[in-house]
Amino acid sequence: MTVRPPEPPPQPPPGPTVDADAVEEAARRLRGVAVCTPLERNERLSRLVDGEVWLKREDRQLVRSYKLRGAYNLIAQEQETAGRRGVVCASAGNHAQGVAWACRELGFPARIYLPRTTPRQKRERIAGLGGELVTVIVTGDAYDDAQRAALADSADTGAVLVPAFDDPRTVAGQGTVAPEIIEQLTDTIPDRVVVPVGGGGLLAGMATWLRERHPGVEMVGVEPAGAASMTAALTAGHPVALPELDGFVDGAAVRTVGSVTFPLVRDNATRMATVNEGRLCSEMLALYQHDGLVAEPAGALATAALNDAVRPAPGQVTVCVISGGNNDVSRYSEIIERSLVYEGLKHYFLVEFPQEPGALRRFLEEVLGPDDDIALFEYVKRNNRETGPALVGIELGRAEDLSSLLDRMAASPLTARRIEPEDPLFRFLM
Ligand SMILES: Cc1ncc(COP(=O)(O)O)c(C=O)c1O
Repeated sequence: MTVRPPEPPPQPPPGPTVDADAVEEAARRLRGVAVCTPLERNERLSRLVDGEVWLKREDRQLVRSYKLRGAYNLIAQEQETAGRRGVVCASAGNHAQGVAWACRELGFPARIYLPRTTPRQKRERIAGLGGELVTVIVTGDAYDDAQRAALADSADTGAVLVPAFDDPRTVAGQGTVAPEIIEQLTDTIPDRVVVPVGGGGLLAGMATWLRERHPGVEMVGVEPAGAASMTAALTAGHPVALPELDGFVDGAAVRTVGSVTFPLVRDNATRMATVNEGRLCSEMLALYQHDGLVAEPAGALATAALNDAVRPAPGQVTVCVISGGNNDVSRYSEIIERSLVYEGLKHYFLVEFPQEPGALRRFLEEVLGPDDDIALFEYVKRNNRETGPALVGIELGRAEDLSSLLDRMAASPLTARRIEPEDPLFRFLM
C-alpha cells in the first residue's frame, strides 16, 4: 500500500505584491506631504533593557499616526477615478484620519465607514480633518463589519476603495517608516525594530524594505493578547478569523489579517510577540507620566513588549515605533484601573456583612492593613435578612500585601469571595 504525503495547507492566490523599490517610490511620493517624524532616544526604556531604545514618534505625524502614509500613497495613484467617483474606506479610526486628510488635500469627496468601537475623539477628528468633503458612517461592532460595508459601497458606486492594510499601495506607504529610521539613526544600524500589528500593513511594509536593504535587522511585530490575529495566521499557515476579539486596543483589533500582508510577514523573517492588555495600560501610563508622551493603546504596544515578550541582549539597539497618539482622554480611568489590576494593586471581593451595627467598622479594623484602602464599596441594607452582600474594591500599597489581606479575611467571621480577573463577574467591573 502506498502512503500519500499530507496535502499542503491552502495558499492565498498570487497577487500584486510589494518590494523595497515600491516602498522607496512611496517615500518619494510622500516627500513634502507626510512629516519625517522625530526619532528620539528614550532614557527610561534604555535603562530598562540595559541597551539603547529609540522611539520613532509617529504620534507626531500630521494625523497623529503613520496611517496617512499608506492612505496618501494609494489615493495619489488613483486621482482620475477619485475625482469622478470619490473615495471610500473602512477604518478603526486612524486610517480614516489619513484618508480624510489626503482627500481634503487632493480635493476628493470620501465616505468613511467606522465600527461602533471607534472612540469619540477619533470620530470628531475625522469629521474635522475632512470638512465638507467627508461623510462618516458608523456601522457594526468591529473593523471587519465596517470593511464589508465599504466594499459594498465601492462595488455599487465605483468609488476608489482605500483598504486600511490589505493593498500593496497601502503597505508600501506604511513601509516608508523603515527607511526614515535607518537614515535618522546615523551612527549605527539597529539590532531590531519593533512595531504594533493590527491587519499587518505597517509590519509587512517595513519588514519587506528591511529584509531587502538591511537583512541583519530583526523585525518584531506585537499584537494585543486579545486580538492576536497575525500570530494565529502564522500558526495556521493562512489568515484565520479569531473566534473571540477583545476590542480594547481599537487600532489593532482586527479579526482576520490580510491576504496581501500575511505572505509578506510570513516570508520576511518577522517574529511575533503578544502583550497582555493590563501591561499595555501600565506602559501607556509610564509613557504619559515619565516621558510626557500621549500614546493610544495600539501606539504603546511596541514599548509594552520590552523586557516582557521582547528581551534585547545588553547593549543592543532597539527601535520601537510609537504608531499613534489619538487617545480619548475619557479612556484614562479604564486604563488606570486595568493597570492597577495587572500590577496586583487592586482587588475585588463579595463580602457577606452581618446586618448589625458596627459590622463595617469591625471589617475596617480587623481586615484592612495599614496601607490598604477601600476604593469601592457598594452595599444595600435589606430588611428581614441576617446578612447583606457588599461589593468591595481594595487598593493595596504593595502587591505583596495581598496574602496577608487574604489571611486576615479568612480569619474574620465574615464570608468573603474574591472576584479574580478571569471570573465572568469581573467583566461587570471594567
Ligand atoms: C495607532 C495604530 N497602530 C497600529 C495599527 C495597526 O495597523 P496595521 O493594520 O498596519 O497592522 C493601527 C491600525 O489602525 C493604528 O491605528
